[in-house]
Amino acid sequence: MARTPLISGNWKMNLNHFEAIQLLQKLSYELRDHDYDAVEVSLHPPYTDVRSVQTVIDADRMQFQLGAQNCHAEVSGAFTGEISPAMLAKLDVNYVIVGHSERRALFGENNEMVAAKAAAVFGHEMTPIVCVGESLEERESGQAEAIVETQVRGSLASIAAEKLEELVIAYEPVWAIGTGVTASSEDAQEMCSHIRNIVGSMRKGAQQSVRIQYGGSVKPSNVVELMAMADVDGALVGGASLEAESFARIVNYKAA
Ligand code: PGA
Repeated sequence: MARTPLISGNWKMNLNHFEAIQLLQKLSYELRDHDYDAVEVSLHPPYTDVRSVQTVIDADRMQFQLGAQNCHAEVSGAFTGEISPAMLAKLDVNYVIVGHSERRALFGENNEMVAAKAAAVFGHEMTPIVCVGESLEERESGQAEAIVETQVRGSLASIAAEKLEELVIAYEPVWAIGTGVTASSEDAQEMCSHIRNIVGSMRKGAQQSVRIQYGGSVKPSNVVELMAMADVDGALVGGASLEAESFARIVNYKAA
């Protein structure tokens, strides 16, 4: 089955809404219509920028998918400071990152919380990008595969089985995020294939359509090699997505 690659820009806690629009316009200028033929591109600005980015995408008929970086699992209620999946859906958000390692490490999110968020995102007709990945210590002690398996099974536990076919998973080894150190393409391939098999064991056939991104210091110089791997269906890009030219070159990896 042909899986359309998904290249996602995770802007993290960067750019106010004016800066976000500037980046969006520069990025759109760097890309041509045919650049979107073979890949899907999603942009994940901070919450305060989502409405502005959505308005510009809409008005200029840009071909980006709108994304968010997180959401709460509940639709509404007394959750001061949180954003509901229903609010994101209303802004035409298509993809929501859940369980990013920064959320797991800095904001105490566990697999159960990530599972509830992923199910809520699907419940609002959006697609979750569920992040998993081992730490350096876990890799060095030979536990990477087991840790990732626990994360995948735990973080997908609340998703209806048929939804596994539409899911996006991002494999992001913690030691590769924001460090400039990328996993070798072979290591990325091995883990993405492992994840695909786990999804297949949860629902027969879902392994063929689930998309698995690699994330962690993806740059124009390593994207081609990573994307050449059979089980790598895209990239979740942090640092390099904040610069229009470098992100455009990542989106355009097929032209390299
Ligand atoms: P990075 O971040 O590309 O800056 O390593 C990736 C991510 O955290 O999604």
